Amino acid sequence: MRILSGIQPSGILHLGNYFGAMKQFVDLQDANESFIFIANYHAMNTIKEPKVLRENTLEVAISYLSVGLDPKKVAIFRQSDIREVCELTWILGTLTPMGLLERAHSYKDKIAKGFSPDLGLFAYPVLMASDILIYQSDVVPVGKDQKQHVEIARDIAIKFNNTYGETFKLPNPKIEDSTAIIPGIDGQKMSKSYNNFISPFWSEGEIKKQVMRIVTDSTPVEEPKDPDKCNVYNIYKLLATKSEIDDIRAKYTNGGFGYGDAKKMLLAKILDYFAPIRKRYFELKNDLGTVEAVLKDGAERASLLANKTMESVRKNVGL
Ligand code: ADP
Ligand code: TRP
Repeated sequence: MRILSGIQPSGILHLGNYFGAMKQFVDLQDANESFIFIANYHAMNTIKEPKVLRENTLEVAISYLSVGLDPKKVAIFRQSDIREVCELTWILGTLTPMGLLERAHSYKDKIAKGFSPDLGLFAYPVLMASDILIYQSDVVPVGKDQKQHVEIARDIAIKFNNTYGETFKLPNPKIEDSTAIIPGIDGQKMSKSYNNFISPFWSEGEIKKQVMRIVTDSTPVEEPKDPDKCNVYNIYKLLATKSEIDDIRAKYTNGGFGYGDAKKMLLAKILDYFAPIRKRYFELKNDLGTVEAVLKDGAERASLLANKTMESVRKNVGL
């Protein structure tokens, strides 16, 4: 199977990105042919400072390598290094109905939040379809919030194939159910935009500060508590083994275990779980030459596929 996915370079990555996206990429890399990129064209919708865009792009590349993506197995590249993606976006746009894009949740959400709609925001799913189709991807692992975009890519591919003859493979989204939505420190979806996130790439002090801010209720220490309703537990369980989960559940339900104790256990768990990942991350921050070499090699591999697809696209549409 050919796996393809990408993450927008919106800044430092958090536990939601790790469990919702990056960990799946790592788990899939051995048995599949993988293409994993940094969606810097997409990020231009929100980032208008060149320096920030450039730095954030490297941040994602460093994060990919730190969490264990192996550049020998996976082509890791910048979206913008494959310019043909923009050419294909135009071509796909000529057969994408406005109604399909008007129904996109992420577009509707952004508008509801007061973003002024520009063409980039509206056409975002077409660019994403182009990313997916240009590499003839079979499977697209994404968080639940991106599922609709993969379905839009599939709809566009079907329309293209019906209009111009078989050209694109039909992609399928892959969503990991157990980790579909990772909660943040306030119990809402963990997200950059809600400022409720925990990053494994922060300093220990910053991680501690944010763990201590996790919202809990005011049940006294001695009373039994319901772990499933606790934001600390809901993050802890992502990182713990089955027997550690059973242990902490017993602590909650027996009483005599305070939220402060739970937070200490969570902090220790985060630092322990991410120790090797953090070590690689801080090493790579000082070794950007290695990161650039990986991106260059990844772009060369991605380019071969993109060029091959574009040759048939141009031929089939009459360019
Ligand atoms: P953010 O909401 O912080 O801006 P993005 O939308 O850039 O995060 O997400 C990048 C990737 O990480 C996507 O594949 C998305 O589905 C996944 N992701 C982000 N937050 C979560 C979450 N809380 N739970 C599960 N997956 C998430
Ligand atoms: N839109 C995705 C996000 O915000 C990033 C992305 C862009 C992507 N192109 C893609 C994901 C293609 C999967 C496949 O997270």
